[in-house]
Amino acid sequence: MNTEELHRWDLAHVVHPWSYAGPSLMIAKAKGTRYWDVDGKEYLDALGGIQNCSVGHSRPELIEAAKAQMERLEYVPMHWNFTNEPAVRLARTIAELAPADLNQTYFVSSGSEATESAVKLMRRYHYLRGDTKRATILCLKQGYHGATILATAATGFENLQQGFGPLPGGIKFLTPPHVYRSELFGGEDPVEFCIRQLKQVIADEGGDTIAAIMAEPVLTVGGVIVPPAEYWPAVSEICRQHGILLVADEVVTGFGRTGAWFAGPELGMLPDAIVFGKGVSSGHFPLSGVIMSDTIAEVIKSAPDGLMHGFTYCGHPVGCAVASRNIEVLQENKLLENSKEVGGYLLGTLKEKLRDSPIVGDIRGYGMLLAVELVSDKATREPLQFKRQLLADRIRNEHAVVVRSIGANIIIAPPLILGRSEADTIAHALEEVISTTNTDGTSL
Ligand SMILES: Cc1ncc(COP(=O)(O)O)c(C=O)c1O
Repeated sequence: MNTEELHRWDLAHVVHPWSYAGPSLMIAKAKGTRYWDVDGKEYLDALGGIQNCSVGHSRPELIEAAKAQMERLEYVPMHWNFTNEPAVRLARTIAELAPADLNQTYFVSSGSEATESAVKLMRRYHYLRGDTKRATILCLKQGYHGATILATAATGFENLQQGFGPLPGGIKFLTPPHVYRSELFGGEDPVEFCIRQLKQVIADEGGDTIAAIMAEPVLTVGGVIVPPAEYWPAVSEICRQHGILLVADEVVTGFGRTGAWFAGPELGMLPDAIVFGKGVSSGHFPLSGVIMSDTIAEVIKSAPDGLMHGFTYCGHPVGCAVASRNIEVLQENKLLENSKEVGGYLLGTLKEKLRDSPIVGDIRGYGMLLAVELVSDKATREPLQFKRQLLADRIRNEHAVVVRSIGANIIIAPPLILGRSEADTIAHALEEVISTTNTDGTSL
């Protein structure tokens, strides 16, 4: 079949997620930090799939682990007290990597299933303890938790909720600690504002009606918002005082992206549960889950009627075998260290090259997770409006570097194997495209 025909069939028969109508780029092959399209053109994948291909594309060790597991046991349910060795081994490893007494894992397949499960499990925990009023979930504006209906309701972007209603209730939003967006805080210190607001919401709602706060330690889709150092310790302490569970959504940040196994504890966040996905299996097999404290797990597990929540692919043996090998590859190749080292280098290079641009407002990064926030006016910090994925498309088409644009932010999240010269290529591509963009978002 020729390429033209494939493109015609794509347009005629495929409905793409998060896409606009029109032709797509057909990728035929991937290896390491690279993609090749059907015409053989090479791209540097500076987004690591969607922030998930941490050990690089088509990693031989992971392919081998998947193949060996497929041949031995391709699938068995986790329901009705069935289990399998790869799931047990992975849960044991995760207990060693996770903080404090977060020793027990509930495995699912996607990040959305995991955030959705976390909400159900936290509510169920309170219910089983007789704390039946606790149902409300607090989330952050500009937070993203997935695309299923509850995850959509918990996602703090109105444009992502439009037309999908009615959405489930029981979710309330807090202001994110986005220091660069000082207009959010009315002249007050950002952390003081956020903490005062949280205390007010607890007072208004009643602390005993709030089941959990669910938030990303670093908000990715919001534009790699890294909270100030005092923020997470203060939120954690308030949660503890009021019996509110703290759920860290580490779907993007978990398993090495920020240079730590989990970003929350590094930022002083003391979660009762961690939601993970993406980087746990580096995109080689869909896998995600909820890690929870022994206290929560024991209550949920010992309910007389058991746990009435699950999916066909919970604890998939192939996904779990791939994830265990992925964790070893991250360790053997010191990729967490590389994430901090090369991520830090890339952040420094971007700052050096872009600082003086009239449309670059802020440049943020945490390990191998970075964002460049564009403005039409540096003084007013008015977000630059550009058409859809225009800048990401130009960076891809003109420089063969894949990134994404979300609102006024360009997001960069390469595989953790990225080298310094590749970081230079990314910075150069952004510099070229940004320097030829007008303050109204059009190209020079
Ligand atoms: C923080 C966060 N949580 C949850 C999700 C949902 O994950 P998935 O797309 O695998 O359902 C995402 C996806 O990008 C995410 O960034």
